Amino acid sequence: MSKDGIKIADDYTGYALSHFCVPRHYEDDLENVLIPWGLIQDRTERLARDIFLDIRDEPLTALCVLKGGYRFYTDLLDKLTTLNRFHASVSVQLHVDFIRLKSYENDDSTGDIRVIGGDNLSNLRGQNVLVVEDIIDTGRTMSRLLAILQKHEPKSVKVASLLVKRRPDSTGYRPDYCGFEVPDKFVVGYALDYNEYFRDLNHICVINDTGKAKYKIQQNSH
Ligand code: IMP
Repeated sequence: MSKDGIKIADDYTGYALSHFCVPRHYEDDLENVLIPWGLIQDRTERLARDIFLDIRDEPLTALCVLKGGYRFYTDLLDKLTTLNRFHASVSVQLHVDFIRLKSYENDDSTGDIRVIGGDNLSNLRGQNVLVVEDIIDTGRTMSRLLAILQKHEPKSVKVASLLVKRRPDSTGYRPDYCGFEVPDKFVVGYALDYNEYFRDLNHICVINDTGKAKYKIQQNSH
């Protein structure tokens, strides 16, 4: 079932970096490859099929949560458009929309979640909206975003998140479609960032202490 996602155990050590192609500039900054790019593609294919068959013949507005969700979003939409091309009896007309939020600094959720850009949300009135997000961590960002979206009176709202993190302080929020459930570690790659670095990495990897120190935002001492 999509709702649960593929569960990656807490003691899973992933793959050695030496077994995959990783950009030279990040080689020293990563612990391991947690989810290789190819596996992301295969799981996304199934999520696309589940979404396609659930929505069935209704139009769908896919709302990309920038920037972290952009690669999952493009791959998911590619797979949905492929289904549309080949499926003779079901067809889902797709609209694309984007929203930009900011919540994280270093590896801490700041709790201060802001909409800092994107399309005019009033376009969502009466639409079936699919929010496409990279990761649900504590769940606060998504709960806040869903409250904002509801004010614009969409017909329905569902959420697809590539990852859900197992966190002791989770709000308990679960997305409608989930790719993978991951341990409580900071992950980067496939558009997920650490202070804007690592988006240019194909695989989802665990960052190490060297990487965190190298790309840490220095707090202003004043
Ligand atoms: P939440 O409000 O705690 O659920 O945080 C959600 C947001 O935090 C996501 O949309 C990401 O932008 C960011 N985030 C949380 N965990 C990670 C991580 O492990 N890697 C990269 N970004 C993360």
